[in-house]
Order: sequence, then C-alpha cells, then structure tokens
Amino acid sequence: MAKKQNERKGTKTNAVSLVTLIDPSSPIAEQYRTIRTNIQFASSADKPIKTIVVTSSGPGEGKSTTAANLAVVFANSGQRVLLVDADMRKPTIFKSFHLSNAIGLSTVLSTIQSISEAAQKTEINNLSILTSGPKPPNPSELLGSARMDQFLAEARNLYDIIIFDMPPVVAVTDAQIMASKADGTILVVRENVSRKESLTKAKGLLHMVQAKVLGVVYNCAENAKDQGYYYYYGN
Ligand SMILES: Nc1ncnc2c1ncn2[C@@H]1O[C@H](COP(=O)(O)OP(=O)(O)O)[C@@H](O)[C@H]1O
Ligand SMILES: [Mg+2]
Repeated sequence: MAKKQNERKGTKTNAVSLVTLIDPSSPIAEQYRTIRTNIQFASSADKPIKTIVVTSSGPGEGKSTTAANLAVVFANSGQRVLLVDADMRKPTIFKSFHLSNAIGLSTVLSTIQSISEAAQKTEINNLSILTSGPKPPNPSELLGSARMDQFLAEARNLYDIIIFDMPPVVAVTDAQIMASKADGTILVVRENVSRKESLTKAKGLLHMVQAKVLGVVYNCAENAKDQGYYYYYGN
C-alpha cells in the first residue's frame, strides 16, 4: 500500500523496463514498433517529425518507459536517435540505461558545451542518450531559454529523431515549453493511474501552446502481458 501511494505521488524514480531490448519479439515490443510506424506516417517531407516530446498528465504513468522504448525501436530502424532526459526534476533515463549522470542536458544548456561532447553512445546501434545532468535550480528557465533553441538546431543536424522525456504536463510548465517547440507530442495515459480531470487539463495545456499532439499511448499496466500499449493516432 505504501509502495502504491509512493508511485502515485511520483516519488519513485526507478529504472524502467526496456522490453524492446529484453524481449524484442514480444507483443508489447511490437506495439512500440506500431507507434513508430504511426509517427513515421505522420511525418512528411514538408513537415518532418524529428523532435518528439513524451509527456502525461501526472507522475508514474509511463512517460519514461514510453520514451525509452520508442527510442530503442527508432534506433533499431536505422535512424540516428538522441534520447534526451528532459525531466531534470525526477530523471530516470540514466538509471534505465546504466549511464553516468555527471553531465547532461542541464550542463549543455547552462554552458557552451556541445551535444556531441555530452551525449553518451549506448551499446544499441544508432542510439545516443543525453541524460538530465545534475539537477539545476531552474529547469523551466533552461528549457525556455534561447540556448534551448540552439540546442534543437544542433540536435536536428546531428540526429534523425530526438525524443524528450518530460515531467508531467499538469504539475510544471516544462512539458508545455518543450511541446511548443517540438514537431510532435505524445500523451501517455495509464490505466488506473491517469485521472480523467487531469487528462482533460493536460490536453487543454497542450492545446494552449499549440502542441501538435500525435496521439495517445495507452499504457495498460494491468493487462501488460499481451496488450500493454495501444496507440490512437490523431487524438
Ligand atoms: N505497462 C507497464 N507495466 C508495468 N509497469 C510499468 C508499465 N509502465 C510503467 N511501469 C512502471 O511504472 C513506474 C513508472 O513508470 P515511468 O515510465 O517511470 O513513469 P513516468 O515517467 O510517467 O513517471 C516504473 O517503475 C515503470 O517501470
Ligand atoms: Mg519519468
């Protein structure tokens, strides 16, 4: 019970399950590939989808799980991928991929360090990761800074796909800021965790910044065995 409450409050910042690596032929891994295909179809020559924000209304709904597994399946398809842990408040990506978090997004945004110096290559072909870096006092300001616009321009040159793992959109403004800058946003909803009112609020907040919501990932933990994820394109 205590554990459940802890998860609800989002204080848990554990590594997430990389099912696409551990069990690539599983139905859940296949669902991630379906999401990848849907994103690829939504991308066009005049409006390419290169920068993707992953967020949800509240904590513990599967944002980091979705962002990490999507990054793996995009890399598997031969695209150069950068996964960015832009949840500088509760970072988890460095744990999931067993990386150092000594430098990362916070360092790049507050110095003149380049992405290629700070990003870490992984054992997965085509997948580089920029961890969150040390917790800064002002995550929202960093994300909203002119330096972030330079960051995006540099990342677009170096990679085909850049995926941003964000904090919840209802709690803090970080995801809204990045959704307004990104080519597309994915909203994660988790069965028995996401609340209807906060979901409505999340959609409103994203709409307010004219985020292009590509779809909703339904992270269905209770039935994760064979139908963990659904993707509704165009919501
Ligand atoms: N479909 C799922 N089935 C089982 N556990 C899950 C599922 N999705 C997420 N989790 C677990 O729930 C916790 C929170 O997930 P996470 O992706 O870190 O959420 P968020 O980034 O939205 O806070 C993690 O421990 C993760 O491994
Ligand atoms: Mg997370």
